[in-house]
Amino acid sequence: MKNLSWLIILGVCLAAAWHGEAGDTDEAPMAETERQSLYSAIQGFVGSWWNGSDLYPDPCGWTPIQGVSCDLFDGVWYVTTLNVGPVHENSLVCSANPVFTPHVFKLTHLKSLSFFGCFVSPRQNPVMVPPESWGNLADSLESLEFRSNPGLVGQIPSCFGQLVNLQSLVILENGLSGNVPPNIGSLPNLKRLVLGGNSLTGWIPDSFGGLSKLLILDLSSNSLSGPLTSALGGLTSLLKLDLSNNLLEGKLPMELGKLKNLTLLDMRNNKLSGGLTRSLESMCSLQELILANNPIGGDLRILEWEKLQGLVALDLSQTGLTGDFPKSISKLKNLRFLGLSNNHLGGHISPELATLPSINALYLNGNNFTGELEFSKWFYGKMERRFGAWDNPGLCYRTESLSTRHKPFGVKPCQEQGIVVDKPTSEAKLGGSRVGQNVHFMASLGCSRHGGGYYGFWGPFLLEVAMLLLIVVKSC
Ligand SMILES: *[C@@H]1O[C@H](CO)[C@@H](O)[C@H](O)[C@H]1NC(C)=O
Ligand SMILES: *[C@@H]1O[C@H](CO)[C@@H](O)[C@H](O)[C@H]1NC(C)=O
Ligand SMILES: *[C@@H]1O[C@H](CO)[C@@H](O)[C@H](O)[C@H]1NC(C)=O
Repeated sequence: MKNLSWLIILGVCLAAAWHGEAGDTDEAPMAETERQSLYSAIQGFVGSWWNGSDLYPDPCGWTPIQGVSCDLFDGVWYVTTLNVGPVHENSLVCSANPVFTPHVFKLTHLKSLSFFGCFVSPRQNPVMVPPESWGNLADSLESLEFRSNPGLVGQIPSCFGQLVNLQSLVILENGLSGNVPPNIGSLPNLKRLVLGGNSLTGWIPDSFGGLSKLLILDLSSNSLSGPLTSALGGLTSLLKLDLSNNLLEGKLPMELGKLKNLTLLDMRNNKLSGGLTRSLESMCSLQELILANNPIGGDLRILEWEKLQGLVALDLSQTGLTGDFPKSISKLKNLRFLGLSNNHLGGHISPELATLPSINALYLNGNNFTGELEFSKWFYGKMERRFGAWDNPGLCYRTESLSTRHKPFGVKPCQEQGIVVDKPTSEAKLGGSRVGQNVHFMASLGCSRHGGGYYGFWGPFLLEVAMLLLIVVKSC
């Protein structure tokens, strides 16, 4: 026991000595105006009870304020990061009626500003993003984030377009509406642009095509409409493009083929039409192609699918596609999820699908596939309910030695042609297709959580986001 206390004392001394060594910079001053601006800004968000002078006489010092960090500029401390929101136990948590005070815009060395779960009551206390003054932060600001603030309403200020050093702009799951300001498309250094989960309307601006350094574009879960601009072909660095859950219409632009580095293209739940475009073939890095639930139509065989060898997930469910099952799909060696359900597809289902080493979910239900399913008992056993072939009137399975556990759900045995055994109830059908949607994420991300749509996608994505931030920080 005694030894332990000595160890602790020794530890404290070492820490103090180490701290003393770093003392040179600790003793550098922080300009009083900077300190006052910081405290007033924080008080606006967390409430006037918060007295930084009492709690943190030296905000960049040894017991820094959680969510605030500083850097030295010419021997003087300035605030470079301000994160508001309940991230850590002693974070800056917003009050019931937080406000933006103009003092935020006096922190002219800020590189990163973020608000998480701060403005939460759209009824009692709706808050607008200040429409002006952002230009004051233009020389320094590299990352601006608003996440999960349903009480943040009004439009995205067009003066965000003045933040020329911005590398990451994230406005995710807030209450913002109105059009997307076109001048965001002229931010020359932007690598990540996330405007998902708001109520944005109007068209995607052509100007976005100028974001040639952009790696991630997420405009999902808004009410964006109109045709997709061919300018999207200018996003040549893009890795992820998520436009899902909007009201977008018209054809898939041919220019998508220019996105050679794109790994994810998610446009599910829109109103896209006009058939698949052949240029998708040239998106050689594509791993996930999700176009489900769009009236796309046309023939599935227009593409030579085997050219997309990186594909891990292909979801073309409910897209009005026609044509026979293309053998080229069964040559996609990396495929884990294949969704072709509820289309007008016909012909024979290629037994080679079972030879794909990673195949984990296969939905072919609700089509006009015919003939005999030639998969083994082992395959049905492995896939379980992730094999969907019901609602194909001309399809049957070979009964020999199949136990009731290892037979395809809702498909009749070939020996009993015309007699539909095991017809699924409508509830089972619904459940089946819903499971299909969720399973996609498990299949494509190797994640065993039932994420469910949008959140399921972004959850595992956070790691990547963190890595990107690291890149952003390093490059300063
Ligand atoms: C904060 O505390 C200091 C020192 O106790 C005091 O002088 C100052 O008036 C207080 N400020 C506010 C806003 O309460
Ligand atoms: C695409 O990715 C490759 C390899 O990561 C990289 O070298 C190349 O610069 C990228 N292309 C663009 C246009 O960013
Ligand atoms: C289904 O396929 C059969 C045989 O190929 C064909 O005769 C029939 O018209 C098709 N039905 C539909 C609804 O497409």
